[in-house]
Parts: sequence; C-alpha cells; structure tokens
Amino acid sequence: MLESGPVAVLGATGVVGTELLRMISQRGIPAEDVRAMASGGESSVAYGAGLIPVHPVREQVFDDVRTVFLAAGAEASRTWTPIALAAGCDVIDTSSAHRMDPDVPLVIPEVNGEELDRLKASPRLVANPNCSTILLLMALTPLHRSWGCERIVVSTYQAVSGAGAAAMDELRTQTRSMLDGDRIVSECFGEPCAFNVFSHDSAIDASTGRNGEEQKMLQETARIWNADVPVSATCVRVPVLRSHTESIHVELGTATTVEAVRSAITAFPGVSVIDDRAANDFPTPWKASDGDLVLVGRIRMAADARLQSDGRGDRFEMLCSMDQLRKGAALNAIQLAEGLKSI
Ligand SMILES: NC(=O)c1ccc[n+]([C@@H]2O[C@H](COP(=O)([O-])OP(=O)(O)OC[C@H]3O[C@@H](n4cnc5c(N)ncnc54)[C@H](OP(=O)(O)O)[C@@H]3O)[C@@H](O)[C@H]2O)c1
Repeated sequence: MLESGPVAVLGATGVVGTELLRMISQRGIPAEDVRAMASGGESSVAYGAGLIPVHPVREQVFDDVRTVFLAAGAEASRTWTPIALAAGCDVIDTSSAHRMDPDVPLVIPEVNGEELDRLKASPRLVANPNCSTILLLMALTPLHRSWGCERIVVSTYQAVSGAGAAAMDELRTQTRSMLDGDRIVSECFGEPCAFNVFSHDSAIDASTGRNGEEQKMLQETARIWNADVPVSATCVRVPVLRSHTESIHVELGTATTVEAVRSAITAFPGVSVIDDRAANDFPTPWKASDGDLVLVGRIRMAADARLQSDGRGDRFEMLCSMDQLRKGAALNAIQLAEGLKSI
C-alpha cells in the first residue's frame, strides 16, 4: 500500500497518467488525497467511480504532497523534479530524464529492487526504466541469475501507445480512413501507422546507426544488471494499440535445457508462461493488454546452440508480450512507490 498522504500525478490526462490514476484508486487512496495535473487548462479525469479535477501544474501543489508520479515527458520531469524534491516529496519518474544519472536508482522491483535500499530518507527520486527494457529484463533475469546471459539479440514489435495518447488516436483515425478509402494524415510518426510496420520513431545516432530506443535497451540493461552484456536490438513499431512484443535470442554462459529455462521463467514473479505448442497458444498483445503480467512463450533451443552430449545447449529463443502502459510504466512506478514505503 502507498503510505497515506496526498499523491500527485503529473501527466494525468495521458495514457500512462490514466493507468496511474486507475491503480492509485484501486489501492484505496481517497479522491481528496490525489492531485491530478497536466499542461492544459482546467478539466477532469476519471478516478474510481467518479471524476477528479485536473489542474495546470504549479509549484505550490507539491507543498502538501507525499509522493509524485511524473508522467509528462522528459522535459517536464527535468523542470519539476527539483521542485518536488525541494518540497520534500518522493518522486517516481517514468520518463527518460534521470535514467542514466548514476545517483538515481533505475529499478524494476523484481529484478533489482534492492537498489531502493540505497535511498534512506525522503525526499527520494527513482527512475522507471524504458518499457522495452522492462519487458526484456523481466523475461531474461531468471536466465541471467541461473546461467549468466552473455549476448542478447532482440527485435521489438512496439504498440503505438508507446508514443502517447495522440498516437493511439492517430492509429484509430488512420485505420478508419484507410478502410473508407479516405486520405490519411500522419502527424505522430514519419510514416502512416495503420497497416504499416516501421523502424522506431526515435532519432538515429549517425555513427552507431542505432535509434534511441535501441540505445536505451543497451545502456539500461547494463545499468540494471550491473553487467556489460551486449544487447543487439532492432526496435520497430507495429499497428497495435497497446502492449509491446519482443522476439529474443539469448546466449548463456552455461549450457542448460529448455525445461530448465521454462522452469526458471515460470518461477519468476510477475511473469506468466504461455507456451502450448500443440494448440499454437503463445503470448500476444491482446492477451497481455490490461494485465499486470509479462507473458513469455515460444521457449526453445536456438538452431545455432552449441549442444553438449547430454543435450544441454547455450542459446535459447522466446517471444514475450507485456502491457507497456502497465508493467512498462504505471504498474512498475506504483511498485516503486510501494517499495519505498517499506524501508
Ligand atoms: N506510453 C508508454 O508506453 C510509456 C512507457 C514508459 C514510459 N512512458 C513515459 O511516460 C510519460 C508520459 O507518456 P504518455 O505516453 O502517457 O504521453 P501522453 O499520452 O502524450 O500524455 C502526456 C501527458 O503529459 C502532460 N504534459 C505534457 N507536457 C507537459 C508539461 N510541460 N507540463 C505538464 N504536463 C505536461 C499532458 O498534458 P496535456 O494533455 O494537458 O498536454 C498529458 O497529460 C513520458 O515521459 C513517457 O516517456 C510512456
């Protein structure tokens, strides 16, 4: 449970903010203890069975607030984090603003939750990792702990909601327009998102050829695991409203069996294995959406695994899906706040 005391959500009208409010209300925080803020004028958002007002963000709000969830983009986080900390608030930042700051823990509670122990007294700041990194590490941490991950190759199939509420609206509108034979308008991405698949919309580094999302997966994995594991990522958007999917190839330091890999993943908290080969039943964005669990399936030995005489191999593959608005952002942020209260 969140410790009693008012809670603020900056970005309350966005897709992550909406999920945060839903989870905060489910945890029994009364509406009068919730401050919803965004950039626009006065409005209201759903909270439990009712509505709460949304105010433009302003400094004075933080004075009587215990915990602040930042879900309004990196620029807003850079502006409001020092103000919230100065007011004595604990801050959970879902943006990329502080993820690579060595003084700010970057935490997935199931993976490196012990990092929260470094923060003794309020005000405390914790960064939520990138959603694609969370999906990757929720699936691979049980393997890393048991056999050591030495090399990862991952391809993502990312929902448009990763780019916010406007991108979801654009996919809906474009899909209708295309089916009706109308002219389509593309404002959120450089490409149409309906009936299309394209390289992730983050900027490409001219020297490495990696886009921002791919670079985040590489750097954040190293920070969270505290290990230099090469992550070769190819990040791609697909015409899915919600929930990211990843195809993962991993090389382990010690050979093992498919059964042992499946058991290790099954035992990991926050993960559910859906892996019915006979029924062709595997993780999908539909199955992951609106859920808290990371779904893992298609667990198999890779064709290029180096096999031992006892049948153990060192390379495995899998397919995973996760609601990135929940475990990739809002749920992970709530878990962080809950973890801070347990100190
Ligand atoms: N979407 C995801 O899958 C995902 C996953 C992990 C992390 N995140 C992070 O979560 C954050 C929110 O993303 P989102 O997808 O929810 O975006 P979104 O749907 O576009 O919502 C953005 C929210 O932030 C508010 N906002 C924007 N600029 C602001 C400012 N300068 N001051 C105050 N409020 C401001 C907007 O308010 P108005 O409506 O009034 O403009 C809106 O409430 C981002 O930092 C993103 O990186 C997103």
